This record gives sequence, structure tokens and C-alpha cells, in this order.
Amino acid sequence: MKLRSRDDQDISARTIDHPVILDGITRTYSSKAGKVHALRGVTHTFAPSSFTAVMGPSGSGKSTLLQCAAGLDRPTSGRVRVGGVDLAGLSEVGLTRLRRDTMGFVFQSYNLLPALTAHDNVALPLRLAGAAPGRSTVRQVLARVGLAELHHRRPSELSGGQQQRVSIARALVSRPHVVFADEPTGALDRSTGRQVLELLRSTVDTEGLTVVMVTHDPVAASYADSVLFLEDGQVVGNLVGADGAQIAAHMSELER
Ligand SMILES: Nc1ncnc2c1ncn2[C@@H]1O[C@H](COP(=O)(O)OP(=O)(O)OP(=O)(O)O)[C@@H](O)[C@H]1O
Ligand SMILES: [Mg+2]
Repeated sequence: MKLRSRDDQDISARTIDHPVILDGITRTYSSKAGKVHALRGVTHTFAPSSFTAVMGPSGSGKSTLLQCAAGLDRPTSGRVRVGGVDLAGLSEVGLTRLRRDTMGFVFQSYNLLPALTAHDNVALPLRLAGAAPGRSTVRQVLARVGLAELHHRRPSELSGGQQQRVSIARALVSRPHVVFADEPTGALDRSTGRQVLELLRSTVDTEGLTVVMVTHDPVAASYADSVLFLEDGQVVGNLVGADGAQIAAHMSELER
């Protein structure tokens, strides 16, 4: 399918192998108590086929950064470009379409629909896009996350780690270029979390996906190629190829 933005650019031809670029983005929330500057000018490029962890103290702007990068929220100023397309130039419909066709999302709380089986939860994005998902496509993605046998179970009949793997399958089913994950292992024990991290790692290594993952856990962050550190809405560091101990040391430096 050819995707077109409002000014009729051909998006689909340019999204593959293109980075997610944040260019001086700010996000200011207005509340009764005054203005909150959640992001204060973040510039960063998430390279294609890279795995980046985003870390920082609570309230430093990690979720806001992810939401802006994914087009779920619009920055107050600055630009976000995904696959060469400036998100500000897209209508809501164009943005929805770009998200649907190029991005996947994984949340800490899974966000699965309780009444649907694993199979139907995974099929949902395709159905919402108006496609009749082939049973084999959905089965393949469930097999990819190690859940081929459990396709008929509802979320309440699955463990936390299994539910998170269903949500990763749901993110992968539309063959996105980028997966954004906000604390995907936050609710999981260490060994279950490790399976989820290995899965994300292998989507980068074997399928060339770009993964951007918010985490509080230095060990989780060590699965990434690099770690972007935020503090008070600004980028304050970037570690490449660091292990868990180095990442933990950097975090405690920031928290001092
Ligand atoms: N809808 C909103 N309205 C007002 N302020 C908000 C809103 N969403 C976030 N904020 C504020 O923006 C700042 C950044 O929030 P954000 O959720 O991005 O932080 P975070 O780094 O993800 O934190 P955590 O680690 O606790 O999830 C915080 O001060 C937060 O209170
Ligand atoms: Mg958050």
C-alpha cells in the first residue's frame, strides 16, 4: 500500500531504513499549578536497526519523549521525523496511518483486551486497519514470541510474561519498522523479563527493527546498544555498549 501524507509525499518508500529524529523537541503541560516543562529541547537520532534504552529519574520526561517520538503526543516545539516524514506535517488521519503501518507499541501494563484470546488480541491491529488477518500470519507471530500453543487463551489465563509476549506479538504483527516500549519489563520478575528483553533484542538483530525502550533497570538497559539518559527534560548522557554495572554507576552519578 502506498502511504501519502497531507502534502502527498510518498511515505512508504522512505520509511524503511530511515531513522527516528527528534530535533529540539519541547513539551510543556499547562496545569492549575502552572506550567510543567516535561521536555526542554531534546535532540537525538534513533538509528535504523538500533536498540536504545532511555533512562532517567521519575518525572524526567521518558514517557513524554516516547509519546512524542511515536506521534501519540505532539511536541510544543521542535520537530519529529520518522522515515524522513515530519510528523507535524501530517493530519490526524495521516499520523494514525503512519503509526499503524510503521510503529508498534508495548506498554508496562500490556493493554490487552480481556475478552479476546491471545490470537484475537494479536489480530486486532490488522482488523482495525480493515484487513482480514490470515490465521497463519497471526500464528506465525505468536510462534515468534514462543506462544504458538497458547493462542486460544485469554489474558487472565496467561502469566504476566506471557501477556507481555502477546503484546509484543501484537506490536510486531503489522511488521513495523520501529517498536516503542515503555517499561516493558517493569511488572515482570527477572527471568521473565529476560525473555522479553531477548525477544526485543532478536527483533533488532534478526529483523532489523529499531527499538526504543524506557526502563529503570540497568540490567534491562544493558540489552540495548546504547543508553540515553534524561534528567529534568534534557538529554544528559549517552552510553554506548555499556554493561549493567557501568549503566548503574552512571545512573547513581545522575541521582546524586
Ligand atoms: N498530562 C500531563 N499533564 C501535566 N503534567 C504532565 C502530564 N504528563 C506528564 N506530566 C509531567 O511531565 C513530567 C514528565 O513526565 P513523564 O511521564 O514523561 O516522566 P517519566 O520520566 O516517564 O517518569 P516515570 O519514570 O515516573 O514514568 C513530570 O513532571 C510529569 O508530572
Ligand atoms: Mg514514564
